Amino acid sequence: MDSNLIKTINKLQDVFATVGVQNPIDLPQIAVIGSQSSGKSSVLENIVGRDFLPRGSGIVTRRPLILQLINRRLLPSSPTGTDSPALTNGASPSSPTSASKDANDLVEWGEFLHLPGRKFTNFDEIRDEIVKDTESKVGRNAGVSDLPINLRVYSPNVLTLTLVDLPGLTKVPVGDQPKDIERQIKDMILKYTTKPNAIILAVTAANTDLANSDGLKLAREVDPEGVRTIGVLTKIDLMDPGTDVVDILAGRIIPLRLGYVPVVNRGQRDIDTKKNIQRALDDERSFFENHPAYKSKAQYCGTPFLARKLNMILMHHIRNTLPEIKAKISSGLQKYQMELAQLGDPLGDGNATQANLVLSVITEFCNEFRTVIDGTSQDLSS
Ligand code: GDP
Ligand code: NA
Ligand code: MG
Repeated sequence: MDSNLIKTINKLQDVFATVGVQNPIDLPQIAVIGSQSSGKSSVLENIVGRDFLPRGSGIVTRRPLILQLINRRLLPSSPTGTDSPALTNGASPSSPTSASKDANDLVEWGEFLHLPGRKFTNFDEIRDEIVKDTESKVGRNAGVSDLPINLRVYSPNVLTLTLVDLPGLTKVPVGDQPKDIERQIKDMILKYTTKPNAIILAVTAANTDLANSDGLKLAREVDPEGVRTIGVLTKIDLMDPGTDVVDILAGRIIPLRLGYVPVVNRGQRDIDTKKNIQRALDDERSFFENHPAYKSKAQYCGTPFLARKLNMILMHHIRNTLPEIKAKISSGLQKYQMELAQLGDPLGDGNATQANLVLSVITEFCNEFRTVIDGTSQDLSS
């Protein structure tokens, strides 16, 4: 995620903390939906910037994974600050190289709800645990379960935000799968996409027909106006030579208000050879920059652009939320000042001053956001 957005949210959290308001901004959940093997887990990993999800052909994701990212700030002495340049920080070291043995030694880690207290600093072990817990609860066959796996990732490089990885939509039961598997998975997906403040990443492989996209069909059921659905087109690299997604991007096939983003994730071979995320992002960029159909619009392609789009949506959300919070604090402050006046409090109005300060900072943020968002919107609409 964009480091400016992380800094902004952190500043807001600090400001609110001074008047005792915890987590004032509840960011929307981001749910990733689409057909089996369309690339949902791959997209999610790229957004987070870490390798930690089981991926592959066939039905790999068999339970919802509720991934809570939790921003955890480092102590100032740390070599990896919150200023890391990339929006995805997969390449950042997972432990500081300095000799200091302080709290910053543990920079990024994961913790499962079903294994409280155990810190996973090795993200490969996180993946193994997801597989292991899936198998222990649903068996080794292709069954699914709506029992979620809850994973928290603590890191200075993420926004405090929830992402949900979901099993892919399938039509025909295979092996021991129950007959109503399609219904089961659909219900599961609806649970995470119906909420009006959920953002839906509807993933479709570009080498399949958009009109048959399960992800888009389902998204339309819960978001008919397409105001909170982003179309993600994966596997652009696997399209037949001479074909491209330009018409889709231009909104000429199935228009979405938030538009589509084409991406190139790691293929199965890349996964087998353990190609890292940074390499994958570099390759993705050069793919779009050198492709005749995309090179003129390469800045609107790829995972970094998708992440920017998400950031913009989150900014809008914050901007829309702030006035409400501001009004609440404002009326609380008025009430407090009236009570003080009636009591003739001899201790002065230190808290009122603090609340006034908070209000002025929020006002400043509201204005700042307007500028930032207007700038970004202009970018995105071209
Ligand atoms: P999911 O089932 O929707 O979660 O899909 P996965 O993320 O597990 O990906 C399924 C398979 O497609 C894996 O083998 C991935 O390596 C591969 N894959 C995903 N996205 C792309 C892509 O953009 N290009 C290529 N070549 N392969 C991809
Ligand atoms: Na898969
Ligand atoms: Mg998956």
